[in-house]
Amino acid sequence: MGTPRDVAVLVGSLRKESFTRKVAKALIALAPPSLKLEIVEIGQLPLYNQDDESHPPPASAAFKARVRKADGVLFLTPEYNRSVPGVLKNAIDIASRPYGDSAWNGKPGGVVSVSPGAIGAFGANHHLRQSLVFLNVPTLQQPEAYVGNAAKLFDASGGLVDDSVREFLRKYIEAYAQWVERILAK
Ligand SMILES: Cc1cc2nc3c(=O)[nH]c(=O)nc-3n(C[C@H](O)[C@H](O)[C@H](O)COP(=O)(O)O)c2cc1C
Repeated sequence: MGTPRDVAVLVGSLRKESFTRKVAKALIALAPPSLKLEIVEIGQLPLYNQDDESHPPPASAAFKARVRKADGVLFLTPEYNRSVPGVLKNAIDIASRPYGDSAWNGKPGGVVSVSPGAIGAFGANHHLRQSLVFLNVPTLQQPEAYVGNAAKLFDASGGLVDDSVREFLRKYIEAYAQWVERILAK
């Protein structure tokens, strides 16, 4: 087997006990050996300001360089007011600019949305996909991943307690691994 594909994992919650981050960690543990998933932190990023495009703040430049280096990008998002949390949208905007020099372009993507609610942050998942269409991130369509009832999925140490969700996440990340190979082979 060759070198594992480098996948940048973005988590759209800064909360210490974030369910979304716990799902991200579960996916990292379940990923096949063809993928190396790494959470790329976004909480340290300044707010995007177009005035800074020619001389971006160091944290923004470093984040963009990290995204550019990745073979693929996996987005884990909670839902805030039926959309994507501002912290995640900010990170997406930072690595997308200046116009014509986006770091996202062409990278095989995946979207997993997470909520304690029953509908699994469907609204955030699809708002995010709208940006990914514009950014030319070819994004895995099936299986869709709406992880609901997230408050009931983990034990006190963050381990998954639901076997059916574990199996679903395993299938998801295997499908994503195949998607990465398919897109990068083009
Ligand atoms: C500002 C705000 C808006 C929210 N809006 C929604 C929403 O539209 N849909 C939803 O399912 N949950 C909503 N929630 C509840 C979040 O799903 C919940 O706080 C969740 O734990 C956040 O994800 P995390 O655990 O990864 O931090 C909202 C929470 C906050 C703080």
